[in-house]
Amino acid sequence: MQTLSPAIHFNRVHFRADDKHILKNITGSFYEGTITSLVGPSGAGKSTLLKLCNGLLSPSSGEIYVKDKNINTYEPVELRRAVGIGLQNAPMVNGTVFQNLALPMTLQGKKLEEKTALDLLEDVGLEEEYMNRDVRDLSGGQRQKVSIARTLVNHPKIMLLDEITSALDRVSMHEIEELIVKINQKYKVTIVWITHNLQQAIDISHLVWVMMEGELVETGKSTLLKSPTHERVKHFVKGEME
Ligand SMILES: Nc1ncnc2c1ncn2[C@@H]1O[C@H](COP(=O)(O)OP(=O)(O)OP(=O)(O)O)[C@@H](O)[C@H]1O
Ligand SMILES: [Mg+2]
Repeated sequence: MQTLSPAIHFNRVHFRADDKHILKNITGSFYEGTITSLVGPSGAGKSTLLKLCNGLLSPSSGEIYVKDKNINTYEPVELRRAVGIGLQNAPMVNGTVFQNLALPMTLQGKKLEEKTALDLLEDVGLEEEYMNRDVRDLSGGQRQKVSIARTLVNHPKIMLLDEITSALDRVSMHEIEELIVKINQKYKVTIVWITHNLQQAIDISHLVWVMMEGELVETGKSTLLKSPTHERVKHFVKGEME
C-alpha cells in the first residue's frame, strides 16, 4: 500500500471518567481516504473513541490531531463541519426530510438550496418525492439515508459512523454499506465505522482497529480478522463469527 497520511492521529490518548480508565494509551491513525472499522466487545470504548474525534469529549491526556492540526485548536463549528457523525438511531427533528437536510445550514443562519437538497437525496438513492415527507413516516433504512445526506451538507472530510446498520434488515443494511463505499470513493471521505458485524468490517473496510477494555489490541488490514495474531482477538472473533 502506498504511504497514507493520517486524517486523524492519536498520540498516547487516555480517557478517564470518574476513576475509570475507559481508553488506555491509544496511539494510531485513521488514514485519509480509507474506511476503517472499529470492532470489539461491548464496553471496549469504541463509541468513546469516536466522541473524542469530533470534540464531544476531550482526552484526559495525550493528543489528537485532525489533519495535522491539534483538535484543541479547532473552532467547534469548523470541527463539526470537517467531521460528520452518524448514529444508530439517526436522530431527527420533527418535520420534513427537507427541513432535516437543511438543519446544518439553519444552525449556521444559512439556507439550503432546494437543488442542493435534491442532489443530496439523489446521492443517497432517495427520489425527489421524499423531500416533503414527514421524517416520522420513513423506514429505518430511509432514515439512515437522510441522516447520511444531512452529514454530506457540510462536505465533511471525515465521517464517523456508530453502528448505523445494526437496527436494519439485511436489504437496508447492504444498501447503506454500498452507499458508504460510494461516498468514500466519490468524495474521498475518510470513514470510521463502528460495527458488531465482523463480516461487514471485512467486506466494507480497508483497515480495522480491534479494541478491548479500552485498549487498541490489534490493527491492520481488515482481513486480519480472518487470522488474528493475539489470543484475545482470536477468542473474540471466534465468538462473533459462530
Ligand atoms: N461518561 C462516562 N462515565 C463513566 N463511564 C463511562 C462514560 N462513558 C462511557 N463509559 C463506560 O466506558 C466504557 C466504554 O463505553 P463505550 O460506549 O465507549 O463502549 P463501546 O465499545 O461503544 O460499547 P458498545 O459496543 O456496547 O456500544 C463502558 O464501560 C461505559 O460504561
Ligand atoms: Mg458503542
